[in-house]
Amino acid sequence: MHQTVQVELGDRSYDVEIGPDLLARAGDWIAPLLARPKVAVLTDESVADLHLETLRAGLKTTGIEMSALALPAGEATKSWPHFERAVEWLLTEKVERSDVVVALGGGVIGDLAGFAAAVLRRGVRFVQIPTSLLAQVDSSVGGKTGINAPQGKNLIGAFHQPSLVLADTSVLQTMSQRDFLSGYGEVVKYGLLGDADFFEWLEANGRSVSSGDMAARVRAVTRSVQMKADIVARDETEQGDRALLNLGHTFCHALEAATGYSDRLLHGEGVAIGCALAFELSSRLGLCSQEDPSRVRAHLRAMGMKTDLADIPGELPSAEVLVDLMGQDKKVVDGQLRFILARGIGQAFVTSDVPKDAVLSVLSDALAPV
Ligand code: GLY
Repeated sequence: MHQTVQVELGDRSYDVEIGPDLLARAGDWIAPLLARPKVAVLTDESVADLHLETLRAGLKTTGIEMSALALPAGEATKSWPHFERAVEWLLTEKVERSDVVVALGGGVIGDLAGFAAAVLRRGVRFVQIPTSLLAQVDSSVGGKTGINAPQGKNLIGAFHQPSLVLADTSVLQTMSQRDFLSGYGEVVKYGLLGDADFFEWLEANGRSVSSGDMAARVRAVTRSVQMKADIVARDETEQGDRALLNLGHTFCHALEAATGYSDRLLHGEGVAIGCALAFELSSRLGLCSQEDPSRVRAHLRAMGMKTDLADIPGELPSAEVLVDLMGQDKKVVDGQLRFILARGIGQAFVTSDVPKDAVLSVLSDALAPV
């Protein structure tokens, strides 16, 4: 059941290992990277309780010693104070240029640990061990690392590719259903942006993926990672095609800002709703058929996911305010909003050529459905 996907980046290429029970065998993959049998692990307190001892044992089998720092769980950790603590701890642990830092956790820990590795002694190698579905299919692959600033999310960071990603699909069993389905929003995104057959497979097998069928989970994670790896290999620093990975994200960022980055809307939930809105917009602009947005919504609905704006608890601001919030997205270029639209399921493209009125009308109708 174990799969390997290679991210092809010349002499910085690396493997993503995907399958069950990888933590317990982590040493098999990590040992060949090490100059000495010792690693420093950054994690969070919740993940540490669940998985740190399994990792310790999995490293011990190949004689690797491990020290660990567990930071508080949650998005607030992706900030200067915790970053400073992490970097100082790595220095106290005497992590050297030839050593390897391990990130054990979800997107917050992966981003923070990757950024710490990027700047420590001008750059040390790091291994991603993502423990959430979202981190396995998106944030652990591709080398985007960083922390949030008071001015916005992910505004401080660096591109720093990991040397290895271990995506252990067994650890997904400890996720809540809501968090799992939020990550699934990113999985659906891959089908919608570039692989209609994968979307069709998800329509037929999504329930198996969410209910814990391991073979279905490995397949969903593997296809997602393959697609991300291909895109990152073509466009590592997002000069072009990598923006396709932001399907649904322009809407999502406005909704996250409008809900205060709170528990009202998780990132992957916003991505799923954003994908449905991006297809609605594409259909209204005559780019894809009217059936496509209905099909996207039908799948999200069948999975028990948030699908429409009405599924977000509490009040939302007006369409005008939401469009203004989009304008604060860091992907705005010269004041032009950039959208990922689609000519059909699996056929996304990047454009700055979207009339503001069309966006306003999609959002107004979504806010007040007839
Ligand atoms: N999450 C989008 C990217 O890695 O480019």
